[in-house]
Amino acid sequence: MLPTDDLMNEHRVIERMLGILTKASNRLEKGQDIDPGLYVGAVDFLKNFADKCHHTKEEKLLFEKMMERGVSGEVGPIAVMMREHQDGRAHVKSLDKFSKEKMSKTTREGLIKSSRAYVDLLSKHIQKEDNVLYPLANQILDKEDQKELEKGFEEVEEKVMGPGVHERYHRMIEEWEERFD
Ligand SMILES: [Fe+2]
Ligand SMILES: [Fe+2]
Repeated sequence: MLPTDDLMNEHRVIERMLGILTKASNRLEKGQDIDPGLYVGAVDFLKNFADKCHHTKEEKLLFEKMMERGVSGEVGPIAVMMREHQDGRAHVKSLDKFSKEKMSKTTREGLIKSSRAYVDLLSKHIQKEDNVLYPLANQILDKEDQKELEKGFEEVEEKVMGPGVHERYHRMIEEWEERFD
């Protein structure tokens, strides 16, 4: 298994969360109520799993390695990916803010708007990485580079995520998928 396969598996988990956020937005739009716990859990997942774990593996390890092998970090795909990670953080920040407010028309609209913006950004971002950036990485990185990345990813798992965290998020996602079924 290549390190980018690990990242692609994480993309599939992130996409499930994007699906949940979309369903929640649809319900809010119809005037239905959403358990505020959903947004607390979603923000926690997006900050920790999507950003701290997944984006750290990309920014601090994969992109770094690609730059060492001559890919520009200033222009082109890496620069675009970094920019999109930043934009994603801004959407999560506003989602976090609205999730802590008492439910009102403004809160409802804010939750829908920031969720939709994040879902739209991240789903396109994931497509670009799966289809363009990761294949490019695997073309230019040699066996040694891949081994180093693999080790680095394991370290992120141990130090940043810690034991049992992935399982906890998987359970949370399953629970919300069932509730929205
Ligand atoms: Fe990314
Ligand atoms: Fe990614």
